[in-house]
Amino acid sequence: MARASAPGKLILYGEHAVVFGEPALATAIDLRTEVYARLHDEWLVDGASLQDSKYAYVRRAVENTWDGPPLWIEIRSMIPLGCGLGSSAAVTVATLGALAALKGRIDIGALAKDAFEVEQSVQGRASPIDTSTSCHGSAVVVRRQEGEDVLWAIEKGDRRWLLHHASLPTTNLVVGNTGIAAPTGPLVAAVKDRVERDPRAADAIREIGEITIDGLRAFERGDFVRAGELMDRDHELLNLLGVGHPLLEKFVAAARPHAFGAKLTGAGGGGSMFALTDDPEAVRTAIERAGGKAFVVATESKGLEAAP
Ligand code: MEV
Repeated sequence: MARASAPGKLILYGEHAVVFGEPALATAIDLRTEVYARLHDEWLVDGASLQDSKYAYVRRAVENTWDGPPLWIEIRSMIPLGCGLGSSAAVTVATLGALAALKGRIDIGALAKDAFEVEQSVQGRASPIDTSTSCHGSAVVVRRQEGEDVLWAIEKGDRRWLLHHASLPTTNLVVGNTGIAAPTGPLVAAVKDRVERDPRAADAIREIGEITIDGLRAFERGDFVRAGELMDRDHELLNLLGVGHPLLEKFVAAARPHAFGAKLTGAGGGGSMFALTDDPEAVRTAIERAGGKAFVVATESKGLEAAP
């Protein structure tokens, strides 16, 4: 039997813009998905059919990379589904990790590309930020120019992403979950539509790219005040792109008096927001009083772990 686990992620800056090839910065978080796989006489996922729509990412991972006999696959996850915390990336990466472990061959760069292809084909349009962060762990930044700490490059059509390792100082991040699961694919498609129609949306995409690089620099020098201001601006721009939600506004407003900054994270349209703060308990309480489910997450250095 093979076993693999992969972390969820939090996008600090750059969601949606990264789909257009702009920079983005994400960190792995200490919520993980585990996948177990063993040879079996029929296909099973959590005791159900591999054809079940719940398992679209697992099925695509199998179709793209496995030509062996049927498998019995079991999934255990701590990452809330569809809430912007990388549940689909983690299940994709952990499934590919378990399949690679069964084959006795794990090449993390190749696996990151396979994971992106799975997300792209299930979602319709995607960037590799979620899957690469789940593969690598720590923090990952997409940059336009290749730096020393490059991990891998991923291309799709005329878009090219250079994924780099980023070292961030330890921070307190408090997540506020709306409990509204919003599928990423339609939100990404709606942003593309808006960018094609509205030049202000195209400008917002470019500004988010600039914010990401400024935000990375602010984190690297431990300037959380500036990092927080940039998060607030990124959140405004994401609203302009049409991916906000009234509950996200409520939680962001509740968190800000106790935080350096707060913004939605992931695809939006529901899902989650997070705040950067030196008083996590105050932020957690404020979000809960505003009606949200709040919890503190830590950054996670471990990416994919897989063993036969
Ligand atoms: C979702 O976590 C992040 C998006 O930018 C989509 C993607 O990058 O694939 C909205």
